[in-house]
Amino acid sequence: MAGGGDPGNQYFCTASRGLEQLLREELSLKLSASEVEPFSGKVFFTADADLKKLKSLKCAERLFLLVKKLPPIQVATHKGAKHCLWKGVHMLQKYVIGESSEWLNIVAKWKSLQDLNKEEERISDNTRTGIKRPAQQESGETRKRSKLELGESPVTDFNESPTGPHNTHSLIEECYQSKSPTQMPSSPDELLNSKGQGAASSMHFRVSCRCSGKIAKMITSQELGRAIGVALSRQMGWKAELRNPVLEVYVHISDVHYVVGIPIVRLPLARRDYIKSAGLRSTVAWAMAYLADIKAGSLVLDPMCGLGTILLEAAKEWPTAYYHGVDNTASQLQMASANVCFAKLTNSIDLMRASVTELPLLTESMNVVICDIPFGKKFKISQDMKTIMPYILKEMVRVLSIGGTLVLLLSQELSLLMQQWQKLKSHPNDKGNIAVWQNPDTTPKDTDPVEHIDVQPISVEKEQSDVKTQIFASLVPTGIFQVSLGVTEAAIHRYKKILIS
Ligand SMILES: C[S@@+](CC[C@H](N)C(=O)[O-])C[C@H]1O[C@@H](n2cnc3c(N)ncnc32)[C@H](O)[C@@H]1O
Repeated sequence: MAGGGDPGNQYFCTASRGLEQLLREELSLKLSASEVEPFSGKVFFTADADLKKLKSLKCAERLFLLVKKLPPIQVATHKGAKHCLWKGVHMLQKYVIGESSEWLNIVAKWKSLQDLNKEEERISDNTRTGIKRPAQQESGETRKRSKLELGESPVTDFNESPTGPHNTHSLIEECYQSKSPTQMPSSPDELLNSKGQGAASSMHFRVSCRCSGKIAKMITSQELGRAIGVALSRQMGWKAELRNPVLEVYVHISDVHYVVGIPIVRLPLARRDYIKSAGLRSTVAWAMAYLADIKAGSLVLDPMCGLGTILLEAAKEWPTAYYHGVDNTASQLQMASANVCFAKLTNSIDLMRASVTELPLLTESMNVVICDIPFGKKFKISQDMKTIMPYILKEMVRVLSIGGTLVLLLSQELSLLMQQWQKLKSHPNDKGNIAVWQNPDTTPKDTDPVEHIDVQPISVEKEQSDVKTQIFASLVPTGIFQVSLGVTEAAIHRYKKILIS
């Protein structure tokens, strides 16, 4: 394709809410993507990139070849009026599926990407000889997890575990034609290569459908997925295979658009093959490292490293820096150590047991400090976080060099508190050069009462106040980025350390 000015294929990625903007930057940097359009948890783009480059995206959850993106249509569906509902569903089926030729074209594109994928996997399998798959990937539990990640529950967001009362399999299997597993094709080649286009009629596929907005009040994702699956099966002569399909068709019907895509790789990109035990969401960990501006030779510290996800993500992407992980819990460090070995990063990441408030490190010895400050039930720190946070910050700032970068993942509450502390300590007219990507409803306004976030009166906590003054005098905020962690919302804060004159 190269050389002819071909802009390439159209794709879209799903991304955690808040990461769309960073994904956009990543797409431009890594793929020179064009027509990049972030939109509500998805980023659409065009790229002429090989599969290796596509798979190098770290901010994306899943990656799809775009089949179509359609504007919504008026569907006459009245709750309770069955005949009317099914008329509407019929309209949707026809609209979403469209022409057979479109499907044949897109499947051909998908297949050429699969060929590249297969070749790449064959090479990497050969070079990996002797390296055992991680135990958890071989366990029954993981097999179950992979199936879920493949989208067995059409209602489920790809980022979440599927739930719900419906037995999708039985519903869909009633409608799609079935075929015994022994007759199943083993690869896309078997379907498309050997017998030419006609062989595409033996394509084994499934539809993963997600409905949101108005339509979700009228029909379930399973019902609509089944209807689209049946119609596609009839039109193309494809066979339903819910457990191990060769082709997966993803459909998202919402109030803003109808999106149809085919996943390029079976597992989500966000499920890293180099991480044995997952901690923080990998895409968020990568985003934190990206924002930290890690340079060759930088010394990078995560002083509450847990399983080491941030360090792993950073060391894979910026391998010429040196990484240090600290945690005060032996079991966390054990798992972090197993992760580091598994990822073959023992040369660039070292780990030690210590407290974040007493780091055994020299003053100004680190160029970057990145930290996922614990919140929520799982990692509740015994002392009140509002009380302890100034001391955590003080120690992080001590070990950070002048000009160094501090990146923190904070709960919404702590994020607001930090912004208030910052405001109280800085000159009233100095807003700094701060990039803010956040939801308007969580942005503290100048008019917001301080009581709103329950700040302790400064006069009462003199010592704490002094600590905060000292910290924020040397920290210049350079960005606040709202991110979703699935069930909770959080904020990434970025600061630069300056010399206090
Ligand atoms: C939110 S978790 C970090 C998760 C990590 N980002 C990951 O991906 O696994 C917070 C970590 O802080 C550690 N921690 C709590 N108090 C600490 C302290 N005083 N000093 C150092 N680490 C501490 C906990 O043991 C826990 O592993």
